[in-house]
Amino acid sequence: MLEGTLSVYAFIVIFPLAVIGGLIFLIRNFIRSTEYCDADARFDGKTIVVTGGSSGLGRTLSVELAKRGARVIVACRTKARRDSTAYFLRSKTGSFNIRTMFMDLTSLDSVYDFCQELVDTEDRIDAIVNNAAILSPQDKTSDDLDIMLGVNYIGHFLLTNLLCDKLLKHGTSSSPSRIINVVCGSLRSGHISRIDEMEGKTEGSYNMRNVYRSSKLALHLLTKELAHKYVEEGVVSYSADPGYVNTGLYKHLEGPFGKFNQTCAKALYRTTEEGIQTILYCLSSKDVLKQSGSLFKDCRVCDIRNSEWTEKSVKELWDRASELILSKGIKMELGAADDEEEADKADSEVADSEQ
Ligand SMILES: NC(=O)c1ccc[n+]([C@@H]2O[C@H](COP(=O)([O-])OP(=O)(O)OC[C@H]3O[C@@H](n4cnc5c(N)ncnc54)[C@H](OP(=O)(O)O)[C@@H]3O)[C@@H](O)[C@H]2O)c1
Repeated sequence: MLEGTLSVYAFIVIFPLAVIGGLIFLIRNFIRSTEYCDADARFDGKTIVVTGGSSGLGRTLSVELAKRGARVIVACRTKARRDSTAYFLRSKTGSFNIRTMFMDLTSLDSVYDFCQELVDTEDRIDAIVNNAAILSPQDKTSDDLDIMLGVNYIGHFLLTNLLCDKLLKHGTSSSPSRIINVVCGSLRSGHISRIDEMEGKTEGSYNMRNVYRSSKLALHLLTKELAHKYVEEGVVSYSADPGYVNTGLYKHLEGPFGKFNQTCAKALYRTTEEGIQTILYCLSSKDVLKQSGSLFKDCRVCDIRNSEWTEKSVKELWDRASELILSKGIKMELGAADDEEEADKADSEVADSEQ
């Protein structure tokens, strides 16, 4: 009798636990099943800029690129992060072909200065990985932009535009320079109209996840417009979705949903090694060369089409972003001030010699 009761209890407890365990196992396998990029792909002689290389995916990517022979330029949010990242990356890879630099995407001035220094001091740039991002509560950048749109989109828009000449210089149609924008699958529910929030036109309640998705949608549309602009000019661009990855990205999510998300991240999400595979693929594969402007996930094209994203709306978004940056007093070209100074200096030297 006692044995019978025990076995019923055991069944009531063990069976649901086994089902839940099985489900978790299946979900985990589904989320984590990933394609691996060619392990032999090398980047010798290539200089690759990675934003947000101080943690998460960007840091793992920087390690991998350095191990595979690239010169890696890692942009870090603070000077302290720059120094600690330099120490970490060098001790992890043994490579001294790594340069860490300060660049805070919440300041357009900082992005401009970073690009100017980079272009003045590096011989070549072969690829940019626009990886840094935040998922955070409502706030403003120092340029009075919505913080997520500022960091995730506008800062990278400026960076990419300022570095494009350098990319164009060394890219050829058989070996083009590459721009990789790291996005997320949920961009498909982003809205171009939300981009108005970057201009301070927020109305109603602020939904952090919606703004994040919209910032990633804007970044994906940047990929498309870059592909359109530089077709056959030796620069290709891709969006890469790393899938769900266990990183610090979710640290600002609050409440029960936030806690649930962080627990899921630890238990179910991909490791950063798994998450970087599609980025590595977009950086190295020859198969992608004809697919500039596409979105990749798991080393495969996974493009999203939306009737809202017409050629016109994508171009308009580009123009609005450029106008916005100019309205903040930031130039969209490098070296103009220096050129003027050089010209003034040359003029005064000529005038002096004529006196
Ligand atoms: N994790 C996921 O599940 C997931 C899914 C889809 C897409 N993604 C995308 O993957 C990319 C990498 O994210 P992650 O998951 O690796 O997150 P993460 O660990 O939070 O890394 C974000 C990186 O961005 C940097 N960053 C933040 N604000 C910055 C600023 N103002 N200026 C310069 N750098 C700044 C961070 O610097 P600090 O280290 O100094 O904070 C950090 O290095 C993001 O674009 C994200 O949208 C992630």
